[in-house]
Amino acid sequence: MRGRFITLEGVDGAGKSTHMDWIARRIGAAGKKVVVTREPGGTPLGEELRKLLLAQPMHLETETLLMFAARREHLDRIILPALAAGTWVLSDRFTDATFAYQGGGRGLNLEKIERLEDWVHPGLEPDMTLVFDLSVEEAKRRRLAASAAPDRFEQEDLDFFARVRAVYLARAARYPQRIRLIDAGQSVADIRKVLEDHIITLCQ
Ligand code: TYD
Repeated sequence: MRGRFITLEGVDGAGKSTHMDWIARRIGAAGKKVVVTREPGGTPLGEELRKLLLAQPMHLETETLLMFAARREHLDRIILPALAAGTWVLSDRFTDATFAYQGGGRGLNLEKIERLEDWVHPGLEPDMTLVFDLSVEEAKRRRLAASAAPDRFEQEDLDFFARVRAVYLARAARYPQRIRLIDAGQSVADIRKVLEDHIITLCQ
């Protein structure tokens, strides 16, 4: 049986990393093999691209193309083989992040991103996407508490993150079957209860 593909999304600081390991362990406890990975990254070439993307100023379309280049590699080497082998894939970000950050945050025409999506992974979308949703002010407070050296995206202002968040919310409204919106302002324990329900549903 094909594995399930789960992605985690949200503005920087919303706390998805806090829940990543717990979700992986919960899936493992349900008897599924699971691979934990991330974007941009997940492969040796993808991790090299990640370093450039997080540090190097570049044209918006270059940034978008490199996100999809890393993704192409990630699909080929990690995501598709794992799913075919029946392994579940848990990815810290995927194509929704390109819509939110390059489309919403930076203002790239969403149709261009749709074309790249159709090119790079036609017919493939996550089985479930968990969007950790938080006010941009609270996300910024959490980022400042957690990260000593903010990267190129984390240095953006509140307006940028408000646009990123708006695209996540719009996509959650548009794809209610796939995208689960998580109120990331709740306690970790309460968030886990919500996650537990979503994972159980997907296991059935
Ligand atoms: P993330 O792993 O959340 O950062 P951290 O390791 O600091 O928790 O993601 C790295 C950054 O890449 C994040 O700021 C969002 C950005 N990003 C995009 O702009 N577009 C994309 O398509 C992806 C996958 C990530």
